Amino acid sequence: MITESNLLERAAALAGLAPDTPEIVLDLDVVRANIDRAAATAHEMGVVVRPHTKTHKLPRIAHMQVEAGAVGVQVAKLGEAEVMADGGIEDILVGYPIVGEHKLARLADLAERVTISVTVDSDEVAAGISRVARERGLTIPVLIELDTGLRRLGVLPGPAAADLAERIAALPGIELAGVFSHEGHVYTQARDDGERERLTQEACRAAVDTAEVIRSRGLAAPIVSVGSAGTFRFAVRCPGVTEVRPGTYVFNDRSQIAQGAATAADLAAFVITTVVSRPTPERIVVDAGSKVLTSDRMLVPDPPASFGRVWGHNDWDVVRLSEEHGVLEVPPDAEARVGDRLAIVPNHVCPTINLASAVTVVEGGQVVGHWPVAARGRVQ
Ligand SMILES: Cc1ncc(COP(=O)(O)O)c(C=O)c1O
Repeated sequence: MITESNLLERAAALAGLAPDTPEIVLDLDVVRANIDRAAATAHEMGVVVRPHTKTHKLPRIAHMQVEAGAVGVQVAKLGEAEVMADGGIEDILVGYPIVGEHKLARLADLAERVTISVTVDSDEVAAGISRVARERGLTIPVLIELDTGLRRLGVLPGPAAADLAERIAALPGIELAGVFSHEGHVYTQARDDGERERLTQEACRAAVDTAEVIRSRGLAAPIVSVGSAGTFRFAVRCPGVTEVRPGTYVFNDRSQIAQGAATAADLAAFVITTVVSRPTPERIVVDAGSKVLTSDRMLVPDPPASFGRVWGHNDWDVVRLSEEHGVLEVPPDAEARVGDRLAIVPNHVCPTINLASAVTVVEGGQVVGHWPVAARGRVQ
């Protein structure tokens, strides 16, 4: 059992297990607990989980999610979908507009091997999918992507989205499956749980209402798919939502803790570093810079100027990065010497994992493997 009081002990144990540094260590016991907890919450609310694999990029973890009840996975890019399909995952939602002949051919190749669905927010993207599906004799399920506040992709909810759905449903080779949104704006707009809940409910209601408008036109739109790790606990309680797609919940990070979506005990991935210099009492330099930690700030409304925090030390922050150096500001009496190992909690774990070629996996306090991050860099 992980408690606040044994955090330091656990950090030291994990740091000691990395064969070299900088290295990402995954605590598989915590990963399993995170997966099971989300699966149980969703199950209780009658909602299915389709985790986003961008966080882990590891087919083995996708299998753990499916074994815990996930209907399949979501990916952003076809490259990730190819890795997941090669790894034996059979139901994959590509939540990204597929544009260009080469990509359409890869999409069709995938759809011939596994169950593939895609998101669409324009007639142009739908036309390409329809054409390649018809040429190959396939029917590809499509979800209409809605903009429920993120202002990234997506059509605005309501009649305009239903008009698009109607045009898309009429295309050959396409089966209209429902609507899709990602309420990522809640991370940077909401300042407390009340606001998080309100913004999530607004976003989910807009998606559910749009699905209703589509259905009122005589079209099938069975799926209402929403979600993020930060809003998961609110989205599962929104009536009419059928599917939630958290990604970061599997490992968690500083942003998820700041969002109230995780506690220190739910952290499963750490960047283990070595102190390579202490030029002044207030400054420590570790061997992980932006090529390891990324330069992402925390996903919160006013992110602090910190690129990660040493686990168990609330006043040891990475305040500056160059490519290979992480510069920490610490109290002058901080006990850290050259050669010490420090476990750093990343601000945003997903891009951090994407920079690692492999991760060290720990279970029951022992190293049980070094897993290649199979989908890292698969951004095409
Ligand atoms: C479309 C989409 N769905 C789901 C997710 C998962 O969200 P999170 O990483 O916050 O769990 C993301 C994250 O970027 C996303 O872009």
